[in-house]
Amino acid sequence: MGYIVILSGAGISAESGLGTFRDKGGMWAKFNPADLANPRAFAKDPARVHEFYNLRRTACVAAEPNAAHLALARLERDFSGKVLIVTQNVDDLHQRAGSVDVLQMHGALFRAKCAGCGEKWQAALIMTADDTCPSCGAKACRPDIVWFGESPYHMAEIRAAIAACDLFVVIGSSGTVYPAAGFAAVAQEHGIRTLSINLDHPAGASSFDEMMTGPASRMVPRWVEQVLGAA
Ligand code: OAD
Repeated sequence: MGYIVILSGAGISAESGLGTFRDKGGMWAKFNPADLANPRAFAKDPARVHEFYNLRRTACVAAEPNAAHLALARLERDFSGKVLIVTQNVDDLHQRAGSVDVLQMHGALFRAKCAGCGEKWQAALIMTADDTCPSCGAKACRPDIVWFGESPYHMAEIRAAIAACDLFVVIGSSGTVYPAAGFAAVAQEHGIRTLSINLDHPAGASSFDEMMTGPASRMVPRWVEQVLGAA
């Protein structure tokens, strides 16, 4: 086995204290994504959308990578082959744990973007509707998050990686948001072995050849030990 591609979701950061979206008491139980995570909501009430992401950014700064993030960084360092993390998470816990090859398909909390000219820069901890773009000066600064109805980033690279890998692993994702929710089925169609690591059985469970059920902080280090032990 030479190439492992991992898709992570909110469940990997849950034990770092960052809430998931669809678990009991999750983000989308408290907030309506229609009011926050789409371009129309931002056009209507940018201050409200900024407030939501300012809170998430502040929570992320206070959070630490957990044993699952750290184990994946160790896997990338010590595995004889290649490891790529594709994440739906907008936090920076994979990078802070030491992972280098990380594609954030839903954008990044710590990056800002101008809705006018497309310029990107490092986001301030607190963004406001009065911020101006450092390039064009427009008052159109938004978090560089992929909202519902927008196209995820890095799709060509991700599809190529899934077609080329030997093992595709999904960690802590409910398997409900496309296109990521369809990646395991695509991997299976290519004849690639698939593994789910999750507290529970995710949607589309038949797309997985194997499932490890339990908290990511316990299951991911155990799986990484197995891979490195077998290499
Ligand atoms: P969800 O909240 O939909 O799913 C979280 C998954 O993590 C569930 O399957 C849980 O069983 C699992 N889980 C929770 N705690 C865990 C733990 N300690 N260890 C292992 N697994 C655990 O989150 P995502 O699938 O990441 O998009 O959501 C996908 C997208 O939906 C997000 O990127 C976001 C959201 O709307 C946007 O904002 C555009």
